[in-house]
Formats: sequence, structure tokens, C-alpha cells
Amino acid sequence: MAPTCSLIEAFADPEALAVAAAQRIAVLAAQAQAQRDVFRLALSGGHTPRHCYEHLRHGALDWSRIEVYFSDERCLPRGDSERNDVLAYDALLRHVPVPPAQVHVIPAEQGPARAAEAYARLLDLAHPLDLVLLGMGEDGHTASLFPGHPALRSKALAVPVFDAPKPPVLRVSLGLDVLKTARHKLFLVTGVEKHEALQRMKKGAQFPAAQVTGAQWYVDRAALLGVPG
Ligand code: 6PG
Repeated sequence: MAPTCSLIEAFADPEALAVAAAQRIAVLAAQAQAQRDVFRLALSGGHTPRHCYEHLRHGALDWSRIEVYFSDERCLPRGDSERNDVLAYDALLRHVPVPPAQVHVIPAEQGPARAAEAYARLLDLAHPLDLVLLGMGEDGHTASLFPGHPALRSKALAVPVFDAPKPPVLRVSLGLDVLKTARHKLFLVTGVEKHEALQRMKKGAQFPAAQVTGAQWYVDRAALLGVPG
């Protein structure tokens, strides 16, 4: 389902989008904690979320009741600067009092198959997640679910990816069903390079990002209008 206009919120620039996203996350955290005493959040990979994570450091969140998961991970050694969890720790997790045992990184250094099996067992106890943060690639991929890739059809909670078109080729991703069944899904999309994929989805292109139904989309002017930021 293409992101309908009612689900898209436009922002002047990436900074305004990051501030609004951090505020939205804080609201959803408080709601989840009031209803279920815990907020289960999956952080997105890629570079877009960095500013949102930096703003989240200063939000009034009760980190003692937050469990952190990841939408996907690259199969690189622990601590590699290209890993999604490294960005999350640098921009957010080492700056907030989240109990270390409540941060569930994907053990992607074990390779796609073993890491996906281990993470699926963990997710079996945790889903549905309260919020999954997601980005979108220029080809309409999200997490590590790429157009036409068999991982997109898997019903597994966490799926191995062996030939990702976006390096590194070896990855682990939350399965599409986990993304779809999350109570809230929030895409953060900035930059003129994302405009074409957004336009094609509005015309019905069933990219992986479009298959995460019922999501909110925070999009900046450059991505929405195709004009440089
Ligand atoms: C990854 C991400 C991926 C990312 C998009 C957008 O591991 O690469 O999970 O899905 O969110 O490719 O990336 P940018 O935010 O860097 O544009």
C-alpha cells in the first residue's frame, strides 16, 4: 500500500524532521509504558536516523523501561563503524541510562543464518514491538528487505540476507511480518535521492517499504518534492 497523504508528514529539512521524530518516539514510549509498563523499540539502520537519535538523548524518556532492538544489521565484526548498532551507540545508547541487558543487538558477526535464528528466538518473546523505526533506500528497500529478494517473502521473525544489493552483501533483517505487526511503524526519509522511490510508490509500486502497511512517514521537503534541500 503506498503511503497515503494522511500518513505522510512533511518537514522543511532533516533537522526539523529529526526533532519531530524524537518527540513522536517519546510520546509513543510514554503511551506504551502506561499501558504495558515497557516500550519495545526497534532502531533503524542507515544514516538518516542519526540526528533523531541525538535529539532522543535529551528527551524525557524512562529508559529503565525501554527495550531496544534493531531493524537490521550488517554481518560485520562487532564494533565495525558500518554496523547499525555502532551508529546507535555513538548517537544515542551510550548517552542514555538504558540498562545494557535491555539493548538487544543482532549478533550479525555470527553470519546471516546463525544470527537470524538467534534473533528470531529473541523476537518470539518480544513481538509485537511497540515501534519500528525504518529508513528507505533509493530502490525502496527497508531494513535489509530488498526488492525482489526472497527474504521479503519469508515468514520468519528474523531473516538472513546473503546477497544484498547494498553492501555489505551479508545481513540480517527483521522479517516483513514483524515490521507489519508492530503497533507503530515510523519511516524517516530525507534527501532528494529518495524522491523517485516515493513518487513510484504513490503510483502503486510495491517496494518493500510500501509493504509495511499502516506506517507513518516523516519526509523532508527534498524527498517529497524532489528539490535539493
Ligand atoms: C541499512 C538500513 C537501510 C537504510 C536505508 C536508508 O542497514 O542499510 O537498514 O534500510 O535504512 O538504506 O539508508 P540512509 O538512511 O543511509 O539513507
